[in-house]
Amino acid sequence: MIRMDSLQGAVIAAIVLLPFDEGAAADIAQGGNIAHRWCSQCHVVAPGQTSGSDSVPTFAQIGESKHFNAARLAEFLADPQHSRMPNLSLTRSEIADLTAYIKAQHH
Ligand code: HEC
Repeated sequence: MIRMDSLQGAVIAAIVLLPFDEGAAADIAQGGNIAHRWCSQCHVVAPGQTSGSDSVPTFAQIGESKHFNAARLAEFLADPQHSRMPNLSLTRSEIADLTAYIKAQHH
């Protein structure tokens, strides 16, 4: 009976905690909005996009790369020193959303 109680407790805790986890998680749709607004001038940010710079990797390529690393990507975006890319001064939550969005471009 004790085991049963603790199992139920765990299930209830998981149900109670779930909405908070979702709220804290990065927002892929929001990341897509930011990508279209700030990045699509140079990067192809979504499969249907027809214009973008040839010399710039698409977000699908970035997300698909076997070197893809969310932490490194977040660091790259937070760093004002990009070689050929402008400083975008993004907030931490914008970076989290973008990172999730780029990762989701993986097909
Ligand atoms: C003015 C053009 C421009 C804009 C706007 C731009 N980028 Fe870039 N980005 C580049 C170029 C050029 C590169 C190629 C890397 C280099 O040589 O710096 C690059 C590289 C990257 C890379 C690294 C790819 C890799 O694997 O090395 C990431 C990630 C990236 N951009 C994300 C973004 C995001 C996210 C945005 C929007 C918030 C954005 N970029 C907006 C031009 C741009």
